[in-house]
Formats: sequence, structure tokens, C-alpha cells
Amino acid sequence: MKILGIESSCDETSAAVVEDGRRVLGSVVASQVDLHARYGGVVPELASRAHVECMIPVLTEALGAAGCSVAEVDAIAVVNTPGLIGSLLMGVTAAKTLAWVLGKPLVGVNHIRAHVYSVCLDGDVEPWPCVSLVVSGGHTSLFHSAGPLEHELLGRTLDDAAGEAFDKVAAILELPYPGGPSIDRLARQGNAKAVHFKRTAVGDEGLDFSFSGIKTAVLYHVRGHDLSRRASALSFQEKADVAASFQEAVVDMLVASALRAADARAIDTIVLGGGVAANSRLRARLQEACARENLRCLIPPLEYCTDNAAMAAGLGYHLLKAGRIADLHLEAKA
Ligand code: KG4
Ligand code: ZN
Repeated sequence: MKILGIESSCDETSAAVVEDGRRVLGSVVASQVDLHARYGGVVPELASRAHVECMIPVLTEALGAAGCSVAEVDAIAVVNTPGLIGSLLMGVTAAKTLAWVLGKPLVGVNHIRAHVYSVCLDGDVEPWPCVSLVVSGGHTSLFHSAGPLEHELLGRTLDDAAGEAFDKVAAILELPYPGGPSIDRLARQGNAKAVHFKRTAVGDEGLDFSFSGIKTAVLYHVRGHDLSRRASALSFQEKADVAASFQEAVVDMLVASALRAADARAIDTIVLGGGVAANSRLRARLQEACARENLRCLIPPLEYCTDNAAMAAGLGYHLLKAGRIADLHLEAKA
């Protein structure tokens, strides 16, 4: 069964064809990074307009890469929540149009659950049951995942998402946009022990997160208590040390909570997903910690960590099999 997936929840226009929920036949992601770079963040209205321009070329290219015509796909799966409303609407409208014109079933996919599912793409790994940690620009959530469609929320961020903290700290350090990858690169040349940023564990079981405090701590460390200093007053090494120390603190909190969740639920597999799962230090530290604790650690390849439509098509297959088919009333939800 071939599913055409569409994802446009934020600033990437993406389409993919995935066979039987696993085999990625063609996947295309059009990035809007250059468009938003000069604003230092995603401008929602510009993102929606760019989706309008990119949608048909991206669909055409993904089908071409998969070597199949649109008439040959069995269903259309689209991310309809959560995300920027204008951006989501573009993908949902394209998907509804295709489903209606072609007479194919339509499936609405949750973006965060699709990030968990990414680990199943292009292979035969069976992660379930697992603790899944989804860390992205908009979300930081821990789930007990019993299957592709069964996720119990164990913890989440009470303020900023981890990726948002990476992006804001990068802005404080005046690093190039997008911030997460800039911190990752710079941190490799820094000393992670140079500055101590406090680690926090929130919630009764320590499974919730809070990242706004560390962001503010970095702000005062870099700019001084009256915020009069500029990041440019710091040497390259000082900046690299702040980047490495901040990153280490965030990674410590993420890894500790994931391990606590696995222990509390007696689960032996941890799955990582979302854009921040592309972070080299998080990948390495989670793998080390899991090896030490005799846990299985599953992390998708980089291309399936950041936003992509293959994860939507993959999860869409399971929704379709479960009969969870949407109609043309499917709504985009922010
Ligand atoms: O999943 P994603 O592509 O979009 C959302 O659903 O939000 O995640 C984007 C986030 C951004 O905050 C970006 O800075 C972060 O993922 N990110 C990284 C890295 N690559 C992307 N953060 C840290 N290190 C990275 N290498
Ligand atoms: Zn995402």
C-alpha cells in the first residue's frame, strides 16, 4: 500500500511516498531557512505563502522520486495538528483537494506522534513498547508508547520547548540562524564544564521539563546583569564554552528524564525523535546512557529527525489500517 504524505506544519514544505508504512520510495523537503534567516525566526505569514508556492513542485518531485503517479497512491496522509495554523492549512487543503479529486481516502496525522514513528522508517525495527522522547522547536514531550497509535503522555515542558531554548540561546550568542545546529557545531569546540547551568526536574515523577530558566541564566551570563554587554564582547572560546555548557545541561535534563520514565514504567526501549534529536551530543549521550543501563536506544537518521512527510505517510498507513479515515471536514488545529 502506497501512502502519499504531506507535512507543512511549520517552515518546511514536504511530501513523501511510503510503502506499507516503512519503505520510503520518495521524500522531498523544501526548506524555508533562507527566507526566515534575516528575521531570526519563522515568520508565520511568510511561511504560509512559501507553502503555497512550493506545494505543487514538492508533490511533483516526491512522486517523481518514488516513480509513481498520483493515481497509483492508495491514500493521502496529512499532518493537521499541531503547528502554525496558516502553514497547516496549506498542507490540509492540498491533501483534501487531492483526496477529493482522486477519490482516495484521507488521513489526518498528529505531528508529534509522527516524530515518534520516524524511527520505523526505512527498516524493520519494532520499537513498541517504548518510552518516546520528542524534542523539537515547538514541543518537548515524553510518552509511554505501546504502539504506533497508542501514546500516553508522561511528561512535557511547562514553558519553552528544548529546540526553542537552543534557538533563543543561539540568538543571545548572536550565532547564525537556525540556532540549534549552530550551537551543536560551536559546542564541539567548547568546554562543557566551563559554566555551571542549573539542571531542573519538574513534576511529581521528575518527568516534566522547564527550559526558560536556563535560557534566562544564559542571557545574564552573556549580557551581564544590566544586559549592557553584547555577545560580541565575548571571545570565540568564551562563546564556545557557553554553547557547550548550555547544551550539556539541556542534554543532561533530557537524558535523565527519559531514563527515569523507562525505569518508572519498566520499559527497556527509548526512542528519540524531533528536530533536536539531530543534536550530536544528545544522540551520543542518550546512546551511552542506554548502553550503561542495558536499554535499547533507537534514534532515526538525521533526515527523519527534522520535519519531513515520510513520518506522516508512515504513521498514516497505520491510521488507515485502523480505519481512522477523515473526511473533507478534517480541520487544521494550531
Ligand atoms: O522537529 P523540527 O524540525 O520542527 C518542529 O516541529 O519544531 O525541530 C526544529 C528544532 C529547531 O528548534 C532547531 O533549532 C532544532 O530542532 N534543531 C537542533 C539541531 N537541529 C535542529 N537543535 C540542536 N541541535 C541540532 N543539531
Ligand atoms: Zn517537528
